[in-house]
Amino acid sequence: MDRALIGAMDAKNIPAIEVVETGAGAQEFAGAVEDGLARAPKMIPAKYFYDAEGARLFAAICELPEYYLTRVELTILKARANEAAALAGPGCHLIEFGSGASIKVGLLLDALADPRSYVAIDISREFLLAGAEAAAKAYPALRVVAVHGDYAGAEALALPDLGAGRRLGFFPGSTIGNLTPGESVGFLKRARALLQDGDMIVGVDTKKDRTILDAAYDDAQGVTAAFNLNLLKRANAELGADFDLAAFRHVAFYNEARGWIEMHLESRKAQQVRVSGRTVPFRAGETILTEISCKYAVAEFQEIARAAGFRPLAAWTDDAARFSVHYLRGAGRS
Ligand code: AVJ
Repeated sequence: MDRALIGAMDAKNIPAIEVVETGAGAQEFAGAVEDGLARAPKMIPAKYFYDAEGARLFAAICELPEYYLTRVELTILKARANEAAALAGPGCHLIEFGSGASIKVGLLLDALADPRSYVAIDISREFLLAGAEAAAKAYPALRVVAVHGDYAGAEALALPDLGAGRRLGFFPGSTIGNLTPGESVGFLKRARALLQDGDMIVGVDTKKDRTILDAAYDDAQGVTAAFNLNLLKRANAELGADFDLAAFRHVAFYNEARGWIEMHLESRKAQQVRVSGRTVPFRAGETILTEISCKYAVAEFQEIARAAGFRPLAAWTDDAARFSVHYLRGAGRS
């Protein structure tokens, strides 16, 4: 190890991480909001929730009694990490999509034999760097790469040269639910290419009683409402918009026919809002669709995985089948 790196480690007491910027920035948020608000019905893509405040609010959601997803997924991962590691084999590069706070990945890194590197990909810079640094601190011998970018985007992400070793994808949290079923197939196909036909582990929320689902996305303390409304706060701060947050209401419900949660911001009255120098009219009761969160029965998600060229090897759930973790084989191995 050279002296400069040792010096850097002494100064911050953590090993260095490599940071890759792919150019996901404020420009993109402006364009997406202008586009989305010009449509009928209005929408803003869910990936823009995660500014620093949004990332903080999402972490608070994960602690809510109603939001079972994070807790149940962690329980499943704890119980099955060794099985997953056995399927993956030794010497993998672990590539996490939507790494967030990088908490769940520790369970895999502990179980995997001789992991070569951990590549964290996230659109939230503050989430990404904090998580990657925590991983680097916990696993000082591991190469940690933080890629700031939109992993669900159409363009292929450029990763640094990782050297030899199979790639293992990890996409926890049921974040894949933010994509429509059709978009999920496209995403998984691109992921397969990025993983060079390696395997992938995906966390997927299941279909269940609507009262449980409704409560998970409309909690009693109003944290999810604050998370949803923060999108307007972000537009005010970054785009010079003049949304009156008190004039919009958080609405979330399970759309049973579609099999997804919908989150909307509903205008409480007829009003006009200035956004990026344009006037956007709202009718009373008109909504902005801010998120869908698809719920899949195990067999339904396996069908999506197959359509993308993966072979489902295992689907692990908790006793009540509230959540599922799928182990998918890439085409590279039999
Ligand atoms: C981070 C996308 C998995 O859809 O459950 C939580 C985001 N939205 N509460 C989800 C979210 C409202 C979450 N994901």
